[in-house]
Formats: sequence, structure tokens, C-alpha cells
Amino acid sequence: MARFFTLNTGAQIPSVGLGTWQAEPGVVGDAVIAAVKAGYRHIDCARAYSNEEEVGLALKKLFDEGVVKREDLFITSKLWSSDHAPEDVPVAMDLTLSELQLDYVDLYLIHWPVRVKKGSRISPENFVQLDIPATWGAMEKLYDSGKARAIGVSNFSTKKLEDLVVTAHVPPAVIQVECHPSWQQMKLHAFCQSKGIHLSAYSPLGSPGTTWIKGSNVLTHPIVGMVAEKLGKSPAQVALRWGLQMGHSVLPKSTNEARIKENLDLFDWSIPDDLFAKFSEIEQARLIRGNFAVQPQSGYKSVEELWDGEI
Ligand code: A2P
Repeated sequence: MARFFTLNTGAQIPSVGLGTWQAEPGVVGDAVIAAVKAGYRHIDCARAYSNEEEVGLALKKLFDEGVVKREDLFITSKLWSSDHAPEDVPVAMDLTLSELQLDYVDLYLIHWPVRVKKGSRISPENFVQLDIPATWGAMEKLYDSGKARAIGVSNFSTKKLEDLVVTAHVPPAVIQVECHPSWQQMKLHAFCQSKGIHLSAYSPLGSPGTTWIKGSNVLTHPIVGMVAEKLGKSPAQVALRWGLQMGHSVLPKSTNEARIKENLDLFDWSIPDDLFAKFSEIEQARLIRGNFAVQPQSGYKSVEELWDGEI
């Protein structure tokens, strides 16, 4: 199993990245330092996580101490929903670059197919009409400028990605979505394969620490447990290795040094075909349903509409 996948830009994306969603301030910087020292070369960030400044300080420290060079890291960030207006996109990019203390990101994603007024928070009165082609045009300019070396989207259904592919001049390189053995995204996976779009898996462990998520069972699922026991690995490692063998990069979040290391120990073993086949028996359920976006004013009257029926 390669440590990288190749994007349609020709760039290589490291197959394991450190997730930073819900990595608390005061902790996330140390997690980034521990991860890079353990061998991670890919950090997944977003302006909406409100911790990019601390990530940036950690990156600067790593560069100053000569632990790693900028060109050896793959850094992702995301455009938040209040910055979709084409004129706001480069401003948001510059804010992220300044907080991360970088000249470019390796990947910049539209975070959600949801739009609110500039500077406003997610709230019923703030939703405005989504215009992905216009926002994507501004993303393409960032790609042309070199500030974003690849561009893509997050939390798009297969249909929304299909629509984007039809109108895009620069095709999306990556789609980042929830993906794990209990939400395998097989339809999106097949579409991405047919179009050369890389799928990157967030919440690859099923986000077990998120209290408002109901029914996360990836790490406790009997099939995952059985495979883990047979291979002498942890359920988390099995879930992550499943993602790699599907051809996805995986973005486990941890702020615990032992688990950060455990989550990278995926390369000198594999899930054999007979056990891999068992994953198709796991019942499927989307955990991150995006209820926040379901409002009369958002254009999504139901969770089904947000995901175009893929729930
Ligand atoms: P912690 O940060 O304390 O390690 P996901 O990436 O699917 O969103 O999951 C992140 C959650 O899973 C966090 O609560 C994280 O807690 C926990 N976690 C990360 N790695 C492991 C692991 N190897 N085993 C068990 N739990 C893990």
C-alpha cells in the first residue's frame, strides 16, 4: 500500500492525514507536532475549526527546528459558508494562509454546499442562494494563482459533484466526505473512480468522541472487531486500513500521542480479500447528517434534499 495517492493535478496526497476538527485550542498545536514527528505529512484544517492560528504556530516551529520542510507537507484548508461570494473567496484564502503562516495550501475545499451572508453565522435568517458555479470560478482563480495547488469540495452528494464536473473548467481534484465502514459511500466512490477524483475520508473512525452523533458504531462493530482480532490490530487501525484499501486517504483526528502513532501504523500489513469482503455486510448509516443546513431559507427542506437522497 502506497503512502500516497496521485491527484488529477499530478500532485501526491499522503494517504493518512491528521484531522483537526474538534481538536481543542491549546491541544491542537501539540497534536500537529506529535503527528509530524511520528511521520504524518498531511494535516487537514479548516477556517471553521477556529484553530488554524495554533496549527500555523506549530508548523512554523516544525519548519524552524528543521523537523520537516514545507514542500514535504500536504496542508488542506476549507472555504467556510459565509465566504462563498466570489469576491470573498480570495479574502478567506488569504486569512487562512496568514493564520497558517503559509504561502500556499496543497488543497482548498468548499466546506459545505451551504451559503450564508458574508460574516454571518449559520442561522435561519442568514441563508442565501447557493451558487456553486460562481464560487467554483473563484476557487479556480486561486488554483491559477498558485495559492491553492489543488481545489475540491467537501460534503457534496454524488449529484452535486456531477453537476460541478459538468460546469468546471478546473475539475475538482478531491472530494472530502464522511466515509468509514458504516458509511461506505459506494455510489460516490464509483463516480469518483470514473472521473479520476480522489475521495478523502473524514470521520474515518465514525467520530466516536462527538456526543451529538447518534449511533456511531465503527469501533464497536462486530465485523470490524472480528477482523481486528484476527489480524492482531486495533478496530481503529482496521477501519483506517479499510479506507486505504478502498483507495481513499483517511483523516483520523486525535490529540493523543499514542493514538496518533497507532493511526499511522497501517502500512506493513493488510486486510486479506476474504476478510475485506465481510465489510459489505455492515449496515450503512450516515452519521453527519447536516441538520444545521435544513431550513426553509437554505434551499434544503430535508436532509434527503441536502444529500440528494443519499442517506
Ligand atoms: P482522541 O483525540 O482522544 O484520540 P474521527 O477521526 O472519526 O472523527 O474520530 C476521532 C475520535 O476518535 C476522537 O474522539 C479521538 O479521540 C478518537 N480516536 C482517535 N484515534 C483513536 C484510536 N486509535 N482508537 C480509539 N479512538 C480513537
